[in-house]
Amino acid sequence: MRRLPGAGLLSRTHGGAPPGLLDFSSPSNPLGPPADLISYVLGCAAEGVYSSYPTWLYRDLYESLSSFLGFDQEQLVPLNGAAEALSLAPLALHARSLVVVEPNFGDHEVMARALGIDLRRALLTREGSSFTLDVDDVIKEASQAPKPLVVIISRPNNPTGYLAPISVIDDLSSRLPRDSMLIVDEAFIDLSPGPALRPREDLVILRSLTKAFSTPGLRLGVLATANLSCNRCTSYSNGQMHSFNAFLQQKW
Ligand SMILES: Cc1ncc(COP(=O)(O)O)c(C=O)c1O
Repeated sequence: MRRLPGAGLLSRTHGGAPPGLLDFSSPSNPLGPPADLISYVLGCAAEGVYSSYPTWLYRDLYESLSSFLGFDQEQLVPLNGAAEALSLAPLALHARSLVVVEPNFGDHEVMARALGIDLRRALLTREGSSFTLDVDDVIKEASQAPKPLVVIISRPNNPTGYLAPISVIDDLSSRLPRDSMLIVDEAFIDLSPGPALRPREDLVILRSLTKAFSTPGLRLGVLATANLSCNRCTSYSNGQMHSFNAFLQQKW
């Protein structure tokens, strides 16, 4: 049998927990995709938008994302799912290490291994059935990690649902060592009481339209920051003219 490179990853499965177990492998909006989105996708297919290369500036995509999120267009980097940022952002920032606040999305470990960067973990603190973040623990890991450094926290956390208050994010960001970038992964923020973060200079936000609209197969996410040089580097680190499929460049 032909062995594929990285065949170990192929044994990872999505969905289908045995009875009695909760399935956290492919979580998204339990309400399912909006009817308008389904008609939009069917309309694009009927028009045959897939038969030519998309226009690479993706103006309509930027406009739609900006109006949906309420963020300025220049603060956005569209992604093929929020997960794309896990490799693009560390590449753009020339990161040598990653500090992940755990428990968290399993792809962080896969990406750190693929990029050959150091992976360190800080654990949420459990208090009965709830969780909190001890900022001191993260700062301890961050100060020992090789720089440049990326620190990732999911907000709300997957899988515990813990929503770090904005004051905790402010505290964490203000105490990180030089040459660090904080990524706040808000992939599930639309399914939580919020409030969502707004783009700012000291951190990068990730949002997932996959999760919000329950469409993992469409692959659409966004990196948002007011740190425009970080934003620019991340857009370039992809290095492709046509990164998004033609369905995503229509007005929606
Ligand atoms: C915390 C977290 N962030 C990001 C993602 C990936 O989202 P996307 O499908 O938009 O790539 C996941 C997927 O489960 C996740 O759990």
